[in-house]
Amino acid sequence: MSNDKLYIKTWGCQMNEYDSSKIADIMKNKLNCKITKSSKNANILILNTCSIREKAQEKLFHQLGRWKYFKKKNPEIIIGVGGCVATQEGKKILNRAYYVDIIFGPQTFHRLPQMIYKVRKFKKYLIDISFPKIEKFQFFPMTKTDKVSAFISIIEGCNKYCTYCIVPHTRGKEISRPYKDILIEVKNLSTQGVREIHLLGQNVNSYNYVDNKRKKHYTFAKLLTLISKIENIKRIRFTTSHPINFSDELINVYNKIPKLVNFLHLPVQSGSDKILSLMKRRYNISDYVSIINRIKNVRPNIQISSDFIVGFPGETKKDFENTISLILDLDLDMSFSFIYSSRPGTPASKMKDNTNILEKKKRLYLLQDCIKQQTKKFSLKMVNTIQIILVEGISNQNNKYFGKTENNRMVFFTCKKNYIGQFIYVKIIDSYIYSLYGKFMSIYKN
Ligand code: 5AD
Ligand code: SF4
Repeated sequence: MSNDKLYIKTWGCQMNEYDSSKIADIMKNKLNCKITKSSKNANILILNTCSIREKAQEKLFHQLGRWKYFKKKNPEIIIGVGGCVATQEGKKILNRAYYVDIIFGPQTFHRLPQMIYKVRKFKKYLIDISFPKIEKFQFFPMTKTDKVSAFISIIEGCNKYCTYCIVPHTRGKEISRPYKDILIEVKNLSTQGVREIHLLGQNVNSYNYVDNKRKKHYTFAKLLTLISKIENIKRIRFTTSHPINFSDELINVYNKIPKLVNFLHLPVQSGSDKILSLMKRRYNISDYVSIINRIKNVRPNIQISSDFIVGFPGETKKDFENTISLILDLDLDMSFSFIYSSRPGTPASKMKDNTNILEKKKRLYLLQDCIKQQTKKFSLKMVNTIQIILVEGISNQNNKYFGKTENNRMVFFTCKKNYIGQFIYVKIIDSYIYSLYGKFMSIYKN
């Protein structure tokens, strides 16, 4: 073990959390450093940023301002800024925070150990925010975990270019990870006790890996089928998918693979065709409804969640009301919703926006209230039912065991024995909108 102590602060989505866990793995592996939970104890400080919404730049300099004092006290400290804000701002970060040593992007974090070595040797800052053709995936060490549910990234970047979104600019073009590497990692996780796999990517269902040697290509549906054959993996989840890549082949997988959970997150963004077209989402409401209906044909009880943007430029009250109607018509479950946030350089940032912020906040409030009522309804319906739960651990907050249902609800329950890593039947006795309370019934044998 070296004397290096690494602290990573992460903002943003599951993808960023995943990237940070990989940064930690790589640094432990190559630099032999220790991971610390306190920035005060660290001599390498990494900030993994997100720029999808909010005032990302302001937040960044605020955080760096705090770390500046650490560096004043100890000039040997290394400060690295990574993630989407780093790609977007690049060298400009140094204008306001000259004391930053390393600026790296979501596709170059595997180079961090060499970058740290060079910064120490040459005493000069380094910037690498490129999108190299050799994928970072190749540099991932095998994951070690004590969890029973694990994330795994299968595709990086995005080619869709929705008019409001910064992701294709900061994460680059889509690259599918070789299916063989994914299978090796899933198998490795399963031997460590992982029973649930959560596949990650900006658009998992546009996964398309071409095996040039065998002249074969592997779609997302094919990948799901291969993963489902790994015996000890009992549940499969994925986020996020795009409606236009929801092929019949994929819908068919819902028919064939019971391990694929009865819960789907499929972002629609708006209930208005006009707004969908301005967003360049490439589908209309009737396409979206048709996909949901086709999925429900094979999985009648599937619960669907979505993402919504309110107050997009040009959104009228009528457009907004259409979004509310869509939630009710399709009976959507818990979903994420955001006020439109103008992102620098995107086409939407140049669109005329006549709606004031108060009106946008009101729409967000109404939308979130509608989603909350839906969520509450689904949770209440579960009371007195028996659910199958993968036991994940014991909660620090209430000392109860916890785990998730297929439809992504956290359930807390008491049981006499330690069943972590096992599937059990739990009778739901109480509902608190987003979480549930239950009673252990028996072991589920799958
Ligand atoms: N403003 C608001 N929400 C956004 N999202 C992406 N870009 C923006 C933006 N500029 C939301 C979308 C997407 C989710 C991950 O973040 O709803 O599905
Ligand atoms: Fe952004 Fe659209 Fe790509 Fe999703 S599909 S990451 S919203 S550009």
